[in-house]
Amino acid sequence: MALASAQAAVYNDKVVRQFAIMTVVWGVVGMLVGVFIAAQLAWPDITYGIPWLSYGRLRPLHTNAVIFAFGGTGLIGTSYYVVQRTCQTRLFSDKLAAFTFWGWMAVIVAAVISLPMGHSTTKEYAELEWPIDILIALVWIAYAIVFFGTIARRRVKHIYVANWFYGAFILTIALLHIVNNAELPVGWMKSYSAYAGVQDAMVQWWYGHNAVGFFLTAGFLGMMYYFIPKQAERPVYSYRLSIVHFWALIFTYMWAGPHHLHYTALPDWAQSVGMVFSLILLAPSWGGMINGIMTLSGAWHKLRDDPILRFLIVSLSFYGMSTFEGPMMSIKTVNALSHYTDWTVGHVHSGALGWVGLITMGSLYYLIPRLFGRKQMYSVKAIEAHFWIATIGIVTYIAAMWIAGVMQGLMWRAVNADGTLTYTFVESVKATFPFYVLRLLGGLLYLSGMLIMLWNVIKTIGAGRAVPVRIPAAPAHA
Ligand code: HEM
Ligand code: HEM
Repeated sequence: MALASAQAAVYNDKVVRQFAIMTVVWGVVGMLVGVFIAAQLAWPDITYGIPWLSYGRLRPLHTNAVIFAFGGTGLIGTSYYVVQRTCQTRLFSDKLAAFTFWGWMAVIVAAVISLPMGHSTTKEYAELEWPIDILIALVWIAYAIVFFGTIARRRVKHIYVANWFYGAFILTIALLHIVNNAELPVGWMKSYSAYAGVQDAMVQWWYGHNAVGFFLTAGFLGMMYYFIPKQAERPVYSYRLSIVHFWALIFTYMWAGPHHLHYTALPDWAQSVGMVFSLILLAPSWGGMINGIMTLSGAWHKLRDDPILRFLIVSLSFYGMSTFEGPMMSIKTVNALSHYTDWTVGHVHSGALGWVGLITMGSLYYLIPRLFGRKQMYSVKAIEAHFWIATIGIVTYIAAMWIAGVMQGLMWRAVNADGTLTYTFVESVKATFPFYVLRLLGGLLYLSGMLIMLWNVIKTIGAGRAVPVRIPAAPAHA
């Protein structure tokens, strides 16, 4: 009884610590696989035909590891920290929270084993087979109970905007996961989708695009709305804008999925709906970016000597860049050039490395010292070095892919006066080779930054210790 009331007086940071450390570990693993498949694209024979090291199996391992293991672990961990601090109460249930940690780790380990073995539903970003899908659903429901249960017993009246974004992320992912993974099991690791033909494609890209919108965007906007004001020691630029941003973003994202299916069997009007909503999406995306960046207004000088703030703010510039580029690529005539080329891969990684990666790293640099009773990370110089190495890596990666992508698109459509193709496909592959090597270099730089972070985290934990943090007696704004 006494133990229970002593526990209730402090935040549950144990689970946040577990998630925070594993985010860094999975980041290293996911990026290592990214670098490996980047090398395979330049030199396809480096794995001597070993099936479980083949590109087709490792590519989904990369995407699952970086999105769900690195991104997902970071999102769940930070949301547990943010919801407790902004509601000034302990997590709703310690046991369920521990289940979400161990359950999520089990999902990741199952992915790390089953994908290289070749088990896949073949739906992009939803490759995991049905037994793992069921485990994901259970973990996610437990996560929703912990998160919304904590909100329900908050000690402040107001629900801070970061929680709105995390909440939308949790609800929408549950819906997307369950609908897109409706499937008929025909064996322990084999199933068939409940949908067929173009309906299957549409459900898949409704899922796929909203995975971008809610997994890779809304959750990270939750991070932005908490960690940028905290690190900058400034209130959010406009609370009113954050509310408009929230409703406009979640409403618009839902309809943009068909831009992944331009010029396919999907009815033309549906493709146009996707394009129009993608163009509209520029406005709420930029509204959010401006709200985040302008939080620094009057405190711009802090960017000069605070590398953590630099991670957070530069992530927003990449967010702005990729959410400008996305709507442009959704215009059918532009998509006719960009689709199937490395331009898409460049767009993906300006969002993934620039936005998702940097905002997570910045938030963890804020969080980790606090979780281990220290004022700051073991080495601030190492944070600085990480920032520059990562930024140069991102620019190298995406510039290489943009040039390669536009070049491929132009080579494929070039025709001679007599109507024959100017280039064979293999000529375009040959012309792409130097850019694949350059991309590998960019990826290696980005991975090196992550390894520096891992070292800094280990040193910080070694020099600190986990101290319980008391919940303030009188509720106030966090
Ligand atoms: C060291 C860093 C990284 C490297 C070297 C890397 C490399 C790659 C490569 C080579 C591909 C396959 C491209 C193709 O099929 O042509 C890929 C795909 C992908 N990566 Fe990464 N990646 C890295 C980090 C990340 C991170 C941090 C994320 C997300 C947070 C991410 C998300 C994705 C996604 C979503 C795809 C699929 C893209 C598509 O289907 O168009 N990557 N990556
Ligand atoms: C306003 C926001 C955005 C719009 C309208 C948009 C639009 C697009 C378009 C048109 C494509 C190419 C589809 C194709 O030709 O197949 C695409 C691909 C993609 N985008 Fe975005 N994008 C946006 C923001 C983002 C952000 C912020 C991220 C990452 C954090 C992202 C991740 C992706 C991924 C992973 C793909 C590749 C999907 C695949 O084929 O596997 N997008 N996006």
